[in-house]
Amino acid sequence: MKLKTIADIDLTSKRVLIRVDFNVPVKDGVVTDDTRIEGALPTINYILKQKGSSLVVMSHYGRPKGKKDPAFSMAPVAKRFEKLLGRPVKLASDVIGPEVEREVHSLKAGEVLLLENVRFYKEEEANDPEFSKALASLGDVYINDAFGTAHRAHASTEGVSHYLPSAAGFLIEKEVKFFAPLLENPEKPFVAIIGGSKVSSKISVLESLAKTCDAIVIGGGMAYTFLKCQGHQIGKSLFEADYVDVAKSFLEAANAKQVRVILPVDHVCAAEFNEQAVPVAIDGADISDELIGMDVGPKTLDIIETELKKARSIVWNGPLGVFEFAAFSEGTKQVARMVSECSGTTVVGGGDSVAAVNQFGYADKIDHVSTGGGASLEFLEGKELPGIKALEI
Ligand code: 3PG
Repeated sequence: MKLKTIADIDLTSKRVLIRVDFNVPVKDGVVTDDTRIEGALPTINYILKQKGSSLVVMSHYGRPKGKKDPAFSMAPVAKRFEKLLGRPVKLASDVIGPEVEREVHSLKAGEVLLLENVRFYKEEEANDPEFSKALASLGDVYINDAFGTAHRAHASTEGVSHYLPSAAGFLIEKEVKFFAPLLENPEKPFVAIIGGSKVSSKISVLESLAKTCDAIVIGGGMAYTFLKCQGHQIGKSLFEADYVDVAKSFLEAANAKQVRVILPVDHVCAAEFNEQAVPVAIDGADISDELIGMDVGPKTLDIIETELKKARSIVWNGPLGVFEFAAFSEGTKQVARMVSECSGTTVVGGGDSVAAVNQFGYADKIDHVSTGGGASLEFLEGKELPGIKALEI
């Protein structure tokens, strides 16, 4: 995959229309996680360093369903963006229309205008050509740095690229640089750690990674459906009856390809699913009827550590247990440490595993912590991401 990048475009005296993913967590009007804004700053600062350039920034925030809903205004994001950028950011009155055109045309070199939430218009998600053209009219060139939204074929992520010279920003370039080799030619041994609650949402990624992985660790709620298909008792643990055959076929196919699949051999369980539940250690793969599997146990962690110590490439998506409850967070915490200690290439993607490496203080020891949740998953599934496809040479 070869992308046209920002370095391939002359930005001198250009009004640059950039799509970023500033869909960030906000609580009581305050942004609570800067990762995505910080992720776009190298591109934004680079653009502003080009002589005579100005910037029109667009993003979505939440899911306002095509209506102008003040609860989804970019205002809190604009405030935080201004602080992190260290220069004034003007919030536009709308996304398109005569007033916005006036605001855009009055921009001077070095000035930054953030458009209102692009999802205030239903035409955004419909990838409407007229809306795309209206957005394109706001800039001379289009830079896409919204990796987190690259799996959506929307007007601001895909449509606009048909009407302006277009290129990828540094964030998209970096995400692709780390993810693409995992599906093409990872340094071996390559180990994937895939957790999370459902087989149904992760089976495609497992099947895709089994093509290049030497070993796959399966943890989290989805592990119990795999254990059940092997004939183990799983008590009241998460279980997808419809996916037993799928799980079985996956294990058979992995075995035929000599991909080692590591499933829990012991557990930390609880009688109830809540934060105050008392942890019960189970020294074996079977879980009795009254218990719920909540985390992997120490023997499983030893097996995972042996695998990860040999690895030259690791990708991790999805927690190993209910890490948001302190008593059941050890498996996820230990795996975060093990990944951070790997001297090969380490990539972490997906909201929960990214939250885990941040929470446990290992993020700065991981080579690449992705800004994409759904996008990183779809990338690993081997799907074409429309926002990236549009920038390919
Ligand atoms: C995300 O947070 O995963 C992206 O911003 C995409 O948001 P969406 O799932 O609402 O399209």
